[in-house]
Amino acid sequence: MTIESTLSELAIDIAREAGELARRRRDEGVRIAATKSGLADIVTEADREVEALIRARVDAERPGDGFLGEESGAGESTTGVTWVVDPIDGTVNYAYGIPAYAVSIGVVQGTPDPREWTALAGVVHNPATGELFHAARGAGAFLGERPIAVNAAPDASGALIATGFGYDPEKRTRQLAVLGKMMPIARDIRRMGAASLDLTAVAAGRVDAYYESGLWPWDQAAGALIVEEAGGIVGALDGERASRDLLIAAAPGFWPAFTQALADALAS
Ligand code: IPD
Ligand code: CA
Repeated sequence: MTIESTLSELAIDIAREAGELARRRRDEGVRIAATKSGLADIVTEADREVEALIRARVDAERPGDGFLGEESGAGESTTGVTWVVDPIDGTVNYAYGIPAYAVSIGVVQGTPDPREWTALAGVVHNPATGELFHAARGAGAFLGERPIAVNAAPDASGALIATGFGYDPEKRTRQLAVLGKMMPIARDIRRMGAASLDLTAVAAGRVDAYYESGLWPWDQAAGALIVEEAGGIVGALDGERASRDLLIAAAPGFWPAFTQALADALAS
């Protein structure tokens, strides 16, 4: 077994257990524990509890691996491998009972920065629907047992485009203006509320492309590998790698037209 598939199997197992806890806490009723950077940026007690569960299992089963989580911060790696974790991506959906949230677990080699890491394994699990997307580097992307693939280029009637908004009100105004400029090439727009699920939607051909500015490493680590293993491209403009500035995900056949439209929208 390769290191990638060993890590992927462990990540799947941990994501299932974490998802079960998240779903149970959701059924019991969610309490918002704190507001972070802005009114929309909330954390529930379940976010913290689910991250603690994931961290404890990683520490027990892979001592020496690093950890970078949304709620509990960073832990150094002595193995070169780091677990990049969003315990509940789509926290606002979770708090409102919208069944579009996910446990996102990426395992990366090297500095835990999307511009530098090599992703080894990724799991995105939505416990509300039971769907579990996973990929190990070089071994393809799957929804459960089924291999998945990105769409070919959309036809002239337009692309189904997913995006998201950060929590900073000023940035949101700008993001809405950019989105307005993307409408001419769009069949329609989706704002699903969880970056990891937007990425897996590209991977499974449920949308044609996704872009967002302001993503954290844990929003993208798992989902970006799943897109790439499903035959898609993840990056930014001008051949740059995805980062907090910008992440774009699309099929190779749609990449040139989509990135050109986005570059124009961002420049105007
Ligand atoms: C957020 C979601 C949302 C995206 C934001 C993220 P959170 O993560 O993924 O879709 O637009 O940029 O911060 O706060 O729900 O874990
Ligand atoms: Ca998140």
